[in-house]
Amino acid sequence: MNINWYPGHMTKAKRQMQEDIRLIDLIIELVDARVPLSSRNPDIDQLGMNKARLILLNKADLADDRQNERWKEYFQEKGFHVVKVDSRNGAGIKAIQAVIQEACKEKIERDRRRGIKNRPIRAMVAGIPNVGKSTFINTFAGKACAKTGNKPGVTKGKQWIRLNKGVELLDTPGILWPKFEDPDTGKKLAFVGSIKDDILNMEELSLELIGFLREYYPGVIHKRYDVQEEGRDVEILEAIAKVRGCLKKGEELDYGKASGILFDDFRSGKLGRITVEWPPVKEEKA
Ligand code: G4P
Repeated sequence: MNINWYPGHMTKAKRQMQEDIRLIDLIIELVDARVPLSSRNPDIDQLGMNKARLILLNKADLADDRQNERWKEYFQEKGFHVVKVDSRNGAGIKAIQAVIQEACKEKIERDRRRGIKNRPIRAMVAGIPNVGKSTFINTFAGKACAKTGNKPGVTKGKQWIRLNKGVELLDTPGILWPKFEDPDTGKKLAFVGSIKDDILNMEELSLELIGFLREYYPGVIHKRYDVQEEGRDVEILEAIAKVRGCLKKGEELDYGKASGILFDDFRSGKLGRITVEWPPVKEEKA
């Protein structure tokens, strides 16, 4: 499946990230826990060199928790601090303050040695579109904290949100651009709804999703729709269309509508907690 992206947006987003990153100590990078690698742009490692790093496995409520733990370990082994969160409901959010302090230990210590007291840690949230950046900022910042307003020396218009315990958060998140060189990455992002559905062939995509679910999460389609998971993927879509009464005029089955139902259910967690990609298997030491 070919997915188009817009290089113009990417160039602008990259320039903005480069500017903002100079202002901060810590990058809070959000990835989608269902597709942690596909929803990540490794360019951030280059852009964020010398910055403290925290990865949030966001939407952890929608992902398989066993895989969440494996992904946490995977990123920790690469030297990141990691927290699993559900930004919509606030689960995991409380743990973040302490992890920020830990991630910024060196900066705090450096300040202390130089006699600088109480300089807040400055952080920015970054991630590709739709990973939950705005939702996270709202939940994390909560109602209690106030925007600190423009600061002298800071690019005009920059707003900082003052959080507890000496942390300031840039109120506009850094937008990273997904990597689409690998068609599989584009497909996984489309599954979780990170690519606008109107540029996709949803029926084709739903057959891919059915194939994936049958292989890796057998039984979930049967449980949700009471249809047998036998035969070709298209026959399963047909069965879903039948049980859900998806009909066009003239009694013809409406596969588009059935695909829509399947994706709504999958993306909202009604099929269960499902992770679409797993961490690469570690190579055994000889
Ligand atoms: P962005 O700024 O990175 O582009 O993402 P945004 O916060 O707009 O979130 C994109 C969608 O993901 C929103 O759903 C949001 O509610 C949902 N979301 C964010 N974090 C979580 C999470 O941890 N768990 C779950 N389950 N969902 C999350 P939406 O359907 O586009 O909007 P709405 O219906 O919630 O208003």
